[in-house]
Amino acid sequence: MEESLTKTTSFLRTVEWKDNKVVMIDQTKLPNELVFVEYDDYNQVADAIRTLVVRGAPAIGVSGAFGLALAVLQSKTTTKDRLISDLEIAKQILFETRPTAINLAWGLDQIMNIAKSGDTVEQIKELVINAAKKMADDDIEINKTMGKIGSILFDNNDTIMTHCNAGALATVAYGTALGVIRATRESGKKVKIIATETRPVQQGSRLTAFELKHDGFDVSLIPDTAVGYSMANGLVDKVIVGADRIVKTGHVFNKIGTYQIAIMAKQHEIPFYVAAPLSTFDMKSDAKDVIIEMRKGSEVTGIGDKKTAPDGINVINPAFDITPPELISAIITEKGVAKPPYEKSIKKLFEAN
Ligand code: MRU
Repeated sequence: MEESLTKTTSFLRTVEWKDNKVVMIDQTKLPNELVFVEYDDYNQVADAIRTLVVRGAPAIGVSGAFGLALAVLQSKTTTKDRLISDLEIAKQILFETRPTAINLAWGLDQIMNIAKSGDTVEQIKELVINAAKKMADDDIEINKTMGKIGSILFDNNDTIMTHCNAGALATVAYGTALGVIRATRESGKKVKIIATETRPVQQGSRLTAFELKHDGFDVSLIPDTAVGYSMANGLVDKVIVGADRIVKTGHVFNKIGTYQIAIMAKQHEIPFYVAAPLSTFDMKSDAKDVIIEMRKGSEVTGIGDKKTAPDGINVINPAFDITPPELISAIITEKGVAKPPYEKSIKKLFEAN
């Protein structure tokens, strides 16, 4: 299924449930083609998460939930116990696709708990499908609320740098960091955006630049190596990024390269903001215990199909890094803005929940 690129991305859903199937935008094809893929097997959803057909923390959380919704339909059992054990198998396969973004585990756990609360096979099927659909709808509302809350931190005529893609394409719609930028524009302020390319997978140039340009934003693309230049030359007023996981101390796991942008922002006294829903917080783990996903070397030794490094070269390709709390000016959530000291302010957000 293919569509023209004239449709507004912000009104497209990155992932949705339609006629007992999961439909998602194939993000590996962007920005050249807007292609939708349809899945009726949770193993296909697991593959899609693994291969970045769908990516971004909230989007993979909801995709995992829809994976379990497919699993209830795929199971042919007539007993509750057997259905729950089929779901546990599916959950494990979906969970093992990507280790760093906590939203995936969060989404899977939410659905498993709901499944276990059902009494009959038919009831569980209905509960699981409805809960996954609600999770997707809630994601959009949460992003809009977070956007409004975060927009007060931005001024008219700000130029805002962002990294990776924390937009509509990383969520069900609207976005987290880009949701704050959208809400700032909706509040009547003018903003310009600088998007980093985000090597090696280029979520910045392929997805953020596409999404923002498509929605009529004034966006400029820079290579990752021009972050220091842009800041030193007064081109950046504020930075905002999303997150894959935030632990209780305020350490933020996000796309590789976020840490060096935060350090440069500190050096140039530029506010560095993070926008993420409460489902991205991991209140149990210590930063040192979180697994940073290491991806295949071919992402670094080539750009698309073009080889850009010698055969046999060793590659280190971490997908995420950790930005420590002392580099972060504020963390924007749907429940309010957390400011340092984060241990205290994050706890307060959860208590208010
Ligand atoms: O490897 P990806 O593309 O899944 O990484 C995505 C990011 O790092 C995003 O910044 C993060 O998930 C926030 S999304 C709202």
